[in-house]
Amino acid sequence: MNTHPLPGAPHLAYQGPDLMLEGVRLSDLAATHGTPLFVYSKAAMLSALAAYQRGFAGRKARVHYAMKANSSLAVLQVFAQAGCGFDIVSAGELDRVIAAGGNPAWVIFSGVGKTRAEMRRALEVGILCFNVESEAELEVLNEVAQSLGRRAPISIRVNPNVDAKTHPYISTGLKGNKFGVAHERALSVYQRAASLPGLEVVGIDCHIGSQITTTSPYLDAMDRVLDLVQAIEAAGIPLRHIDFGGGLGIDYNGDTPPAADALWAQLLAKLDARGYGQRELMIEPGRSLVGNAGVCLSEVQYLKPGEQKNFCIIDAAMNDLPRPAMYEAFHQIVPLRLNSAAAETVYDVVGPVCESGDWLGRDRALQVQSGDLLAVLSAGAYCMSMSSNYNTRGRAAEVLVDGTQSHLIRRRESHADQMQFEQLV
Ligand code: LLP
Repeated sequence: MNTHPLPGAPHLAYQGPDLMLEGVRLSDLAATHGTPLFVYSKAAMLSALAAYQRGFAGRKARVHYAMKANSSLAVLQVFAQAGCGFDIVSAGELDRVIAAGGNPAWVIFSGVGKTRAEMRRALEVGILCFNVESEAELEVLNEVAQSLGRRAPISIRVNPNVDAKTHPYISTGLKGNKFGVAHERALSVYQRAASLPGLEVVGIDCHIGSQITTTSPYLDAMDRVLDLVQAIEAAGIPLRHIDFGGGLGIDYNGDTPPAADALWAQLLAKLDARGYGQRELMIEPGRSLVGNAGVCLSEVQYLKPGEQKNFCIIDAAMNDLPRPAMYEAFHQIVPLRLNSAAAETVYDVVGPVCESGDWLGRDRALQVQSGDLLAVLSAGAYCMSMSSNYNTRGRAAEVLVDGTQSHLIRRRESHADQMQFEQLV
């Protein structure tokens, strides 16, 4: 069975035969709320956040939670109450921040395709900064801001083009993808931005990719960004803040990313060495704040032995948890109660959706029988927020655990919910 500590430990652990999240027995939640069910630990989220906050204590720095990872209102509320700003990529996300009690003045707006309507909304509520991703966007934002009689605070997302040979897993900070402005063009784009009356240049940002499990790509990218800061300021354009983009990767299957405070120690050492340690600093972590704080509970429906494969068919599917189908991502799958009488067998764990791509785990040794409950681990990030209604499956319910308390934070979607926006001709 498991050879590693459970991702999510110490908040996720077996107590006797029962899998507990904080002080709550997960099989009790499955019995109360049904399956599939997402369950999140508030303490796990806050302790992940605290590692970032410890790392930059004493500096002018803030975490802007990249809410695309998990945009459920109660999750946003936890981070808003803990002093986070937010990194958003749509006006829909902005309205969620406001609904959850977040401060719009601490919102940064990323994304390559912001519409005029989204820009207007963000200007009206007074966000902190637009992370602009192209020259064309700069011109449009200038027009929109002027039409409202405002100046839009901007930062330009620069593409540090960190060497792919050294760090092949970095996918968004390289030439040849749709994100950011090329390093070589950055200075002239900043000069253009500084000349536009509807814009106020306030910072610089980059984002080099996700699920990064070593510090060196961050340090390389930072060097490239600081080179630009120097050049841009030498050209007479002061920059108030530096934003390092997304956060660290997490442990899905024995991965060993550095702790967030250890990453900061290295980032700050470099910033100090280059004389930029007193700038306003920002980071936009998503996955590392919520990923290992969440699990998806599911019930085994059928066991289907086959000649080449045995299938364990569960009631969660690719519509609930699309990462395996989309990225061949690995999530550990463990029982909610140990000591099943069943013999250990190797299964592909699959959902009921009519696609061969609908699998959640391949070649997993499990002791299960029909009716047993399983947990798909590391399911707090990019699972519920990427879920769909494919096969007319209602979205799962969600529960937030806090000590020995549990709160239903989203009820299960009904069939009527799914049809509410449609009409017959
Ligand atoms: N900032 C920007 C501009 C981003 O594009 C992202 C993630 C983040 C911050 C947060 O990065 P994180 O701290 O979570 O690594 N759906 C994929 C991940 C897509 C990440 C997209 N951008 C997955 O499930 O692995």
